[in-house]
Amino acid sequence: MKVKIKSPGTVANLVCGFDILGLALKAPYDIMEFEIIDQPGVVIENRDAFNLPTEPEKNVAGVVLLAAIEKAGFNKGIRVTIEKHIKPGSGLGSSAASAAGAAVGANILLGDIFSTDDLVQLAMIGEKLATGVKHADNITPCILGGITLIRSIHPLDIVPIASPDLFVTVVHPQIEVRTADARQILRKQVYLKDAIKQWGNIAGLVAGFMTNDRGLIGRSLEDVIIEPVRSILIPAFDEVKAKCKEAGALGGGISGSGPSIFMLSENEATAQMVGDIMKKVYDSIGIENYVYVTTIA
Ligand code: HSE
Repeated sequence: MKVKIKSPGTVANLVCGFDILGLALKAPYDIMEFEIIDQPGVVIENRDAFNLPTEPEKNVAGVVLLAAIEKAGFNKGIRVTIEKHIKPGSGLGSSAASAAGAAVGANILLGDIFSTDDLVQLAMIGEKLATGVKHADNITPCILGGITLIRSIHPLDIVPIASPDLFVTVVHPQIEVRTADARQILRKQVYLKDAIKQWGNIAGLVAGFMTNDRGLIGRSLEDVIIEPVRSILIPAFDEVKAKCKEAGALGGGISGSGPSIFMLSENEATAQMVGDIMKKVYDSIGIENYVYVTTIA
C-alpha cells in the first residue's frame, strides 16, 4: 500500500498569538508519499532541490517516523518520498509540514491507530529537531486544517477555531531567517502594560474569527511584543504592512518567525492587489520574492 498526502504550509502566531495561534494555507504545500518496507527503520528520498538530510535521525520527517514506528511497536520500516514546495526558512511552516505530514502518513499506513493529540505530540519531535523548541502552532493547523488555538502544550489542549471565509496573501522575500535565531533575539520578559494589550488582541482576534467580525479581526491583528523585535530582520516590513492596509487588507504581519509576511483580506480582488503591492515593494529594492494569493485550507 502507498499513501500520498499533501501537507500544507501554515501561518503561525497570527500576529498577536505567539506560539498559540495558526492557520493552514491552501497553497503552498508539500507532497509526501509513504510505503511499508520489510527492512526495519526509515528510508528517505528527497525529490527537491533543498538538500535536506536523508539520515532519518537528522531529518524532521525521519525522526517523526522513527518515533511513530516505536510508539506503534511496528516491526517493519517506512519509506518516505518528500517533494518539498515550502521552502525551509520561509516562515511558512516548512518543518511543520514535514513533521505533521510524517505523523499523518505513518498513521494511515499503520491503520489509524493514533489520536489527534498523538499526531501533534509525534510531530512536535520533528519541530524540536528543526527549531530547538517543541511548539505546535504550525503543526496543529497543518494536521487539522483551518485556524487553531493551542491553549496549552503541557498538557496538550487544542481548540479548533471557526475559520471565516477570508483570503490570505503571503509574500516570501528570498532571505532566510532561521526560527532558532528569530527566537533567540526575543526578550524573555514583558511589561504588564504590553501583556494586557497583547491578551486583549488575542481574545479579540479569536472572538472576531468565531463571530466573523471582520472589523474586530482587523483591529486585533496587532503585536506589541514580538513584532517590534523580529521585524528588524525583515527588510521593508513597515512599508509593506502600511501599504497593504492602505489597499484594504484587514491586517497581518510576520508569518511565523519570518521572513514571510501575510495579510488577510475580505475578497479576492483586494488579496490580489495586496499581492501586487508586496511584489512591487520587494522588486523595487531588488529582493527576489514569491507571492501566494490563497485561502485558509
Ligand atoms: N511560533 C513560532 C515562532 C513559529 O514564532 O517562533 C515558528 O514558525
